[in-house]
Amino acid sequence: MSVLERLEIKHPILLAPMAGVSTPELAAEVSNSGGLGALGLGANTVEAAKVQILKTQELTDHPFQVNFFCHQSQALNEVDAKNWIEYLKPAFERFNVSVPNELNCIYPSFLDNDEFLNLVLETRPKAVSFHFGIPHAHQLRALREAGIITLVSATNLLEAQAIEAAGVDIIIAQGIEAGGHRGIFNPEIDGAVKTSDLLQLIVQHCQIPVIAAGGIMNGRQAKHMMNLGAQAVQLGTAFVQCKTSNANAAYRQALLNHPLTQITSSISGRPARGIMNHWQTQIDQPQRPTPPAYPYTYDLAKQLHAVASQQGDQSFAAFWAGSNVAQIREMEARDLINQLVLEMAE
Ligand SMILES: Cc1cc2nc3c(=O)[nH]c(=O)nc-3n(C[C@H](O)[C@H](O)[C@H](O)COP(=O)(O)O)c2cc1C
Repeated sequence: MSVLERLEIKHPILLAPMAGVSTPELAAEVSNSGGLGALGLGANTVEAAKVQILKTQELTDHPFQVNFFCHQSQALNEVDAKNWIEYLKPAFERFNVSVPNELNCIYPSFLDNDEFLNLVLETRPKAVSFHFGIPHAHQLRALREAGIITLVSATNLLEAQAIEAAGVDIIIAQGIEAGGHRGIFNPEIDGAVKTSDLLQLIVQHCQIPVIAAGGIMNGRQAKHMMNLGAQAVQLGTAFVQCKTSNANAAYRQALLNHPLTQITSSISGRPARGIMNHWQTQIDQPQRPTPPAYPYTYDLAKQLHAVASQQGDQSFAAFWAGSNVAQIREMEARDLINQLVLEMAE
């Protein structure tokens, strides 16, 4: 069965799940237009995730995917934390605020307990995808028995092979161009393979279907990925500018300024690609200490951004975007899907 048949969608176009940016309205608009809508729920509590899923189900009868983070939770390294807090102290003091003296684990992992699994089993979205790793065997088994399709991001061939061996249904080949967090399992080791190369490698060595993600902004690029063996494409950045996304005015303006993007681990403790700002130009200095593990580092970054933005300074924001962000178009999500379909047919 093809990915289109399995996901019961008309067009081979998936909205990327984007924590903080995706909304039930955006997910439903994409699904109602023949693509696969998505909810990025990794930063939500179980209760908040449930509200989003139920709202999306109210807005569409078509399938959509939900997404969670599968990182290996780590205890906070107190030395790293102390050094990082000390390093960011001047940045806080610039805004006349004292640096916080502790870091919190702001997001749980899907691996830590079965609360999110139970939510998925209760609400039954068509598909569930995972970033940063593979769910436990008992979790995959429960999803399979419930008929819920599973997808996991891979950034290299070894990850893709592990995903296939675990019995996951579909691999998302996430190339280095991709906006947001690298789905990489071990954040210390990154082969930085570009989407088209990664896709071909995985298609050659794995039997299960592959979806391409990273730097795809128009139908021509999407068609190219399909020609290289992708069964569908997943786009994130291209949808951030859509009216129904949750992006605020500053984020939308930053996207339109034809920005450069760069990958940094300084914001969250894991590598992620976003629009270049103070994180890359001032914090990522060679003498920078090792940031604490994800998501502890993110706690401090979010607090710094909150302090700065309250004083009108957006330069510590995490404006995630892919390397082809300069090709972004300001369109309604439904028009973007139609346009992508037209361009793919050319
Ligand atoms: C704003 C933003 C937030 C993202 N959040 C998530 C997320 O919560 N979960 C996830 O699996 N991927 C996330 N990603 C990565 C996407 O799934 C996808 O790999 C990426 O958007 C593809 O590259 P593109 O942005 O160039 O289209 C995010 C990407 C962006 C741009």
